Amino acid sequence: MTAPTTTSGRAPTRRPAERPRRLRATPALRRLVSEHRLHPADLVLPVFVREGIAAPTPIAAMPGAVQHTLDSLRRAATEAAEAGVGGLMLFGVPATRDAVGSGASDPDGILNAGLRALAAEVGDAVVVMADLCLDEFTDHGHCGVLDPAGGVDNDATLVRYEEMALAQAEAGAHLLGLSGMMDGQVAAVRAALDGAGHVGTGIVAYSAKYASAFYGPFREAVDSTLTGDRKSYQLDPANRREGLREATLDLAEGADVVMVKPAMGYLDVLADVAARSPVPVAAYQVSGEYAMVEAAAAQGWIDRRAAITESVLGIRRAGADVVLTYWATELAGWLR
Ligand code: PBG
Repeated sequence: MTAPTTTSGRAPTRRPAERPRRLRATPALRRLVSEHRLHPADLVLPVFVREGIAAPTPIAAMPGAVQHTLDSLRRAATEAAEAGVGGLMLFGVPATRDAVGSGASDPDGILNAGLRALAAEVGDAVVVMADLCLDEFTDHGHCGVLDPAGGVDNDATLVRYEEMALAQAEAGAHLLGLSGMMDGQVAAVRAALDGAGHVGTGIVAYSAKYASAFYGPFREAVDSTLTGDRKSYQLDPANRREGLREATLDLAEGADVVMVKPAMGYLDVLADVAARSPVPVAAYQVSGEYAMVEAAAAQGWIDRRAAITESVLGIRRAGADVVLTYWATELAGWLR
């Protein structure tokens, strides 16, 4: 005889009409009815290459991530490719900077040299993407060039983005990640690429990029020189509707992929954009999101692997087709 499960021994009087738990009873049932699955091909690994270092340099605020040399960059790319990762997003850290970010459009600048190395290493097996922004290359650390009053000059910056775009396309990037949040940047870069015959080079528009505190660790990763903030060009975290407006503008200007960034704090914006976008939607799980999980895991406060998996799954569930995450290679390895 089965023991009664109530303390009184009475038979239960409430009998639910719906029993969703039925489908959660075994791992096989849960697997069968799972609405979303992670796959290595949907992941993009952001990578940093730094000029003038002899060995990979750890990034303290991003445990496990490094600034690469050209050699270690190639190895990381091969490792990601072998794990089945879908793409790489490259950031360059130059040795010298100036007011207009000359190094960004120099064919021999570290970012373009890194792109060439990646294209040679992985060929067409992995999608090679380039961050297209001036902040790593300017001495003031802003994403554009400055006007005499010290503000970021939108239209003068577009000219620099066009020059960067041509250098990156020539270096072999498949997709250009426009992350500067200047008005009209997608149309400007598209026209420049087409005018130079790079019709096959695509644009990943960081459409809804918020002025976020969660980029903190990234500032160390690229040795950022910024002293102020980016609130005059990146979105206000208070604004949901405006994220959709930015994505709509980028689509009209010819974006091939639209992106929301950061990811975890902006899943509502991501869901809005995903519901309306006719092109693939990406989300960037940024450095601060990475650092928080790593820090909590290092303290033993969180199950690292479960938290990483759940966080990326949540971003996919909200509507991202593609997720940029510093865990891409490791996570892809778990998914095999
Ligand atoms: C700008 C850029 C930033 C990040 C990606 N591209 C920094 C910023 O806008 O301040 C942040 C990425 C991260 O935090 O992981 N080039």
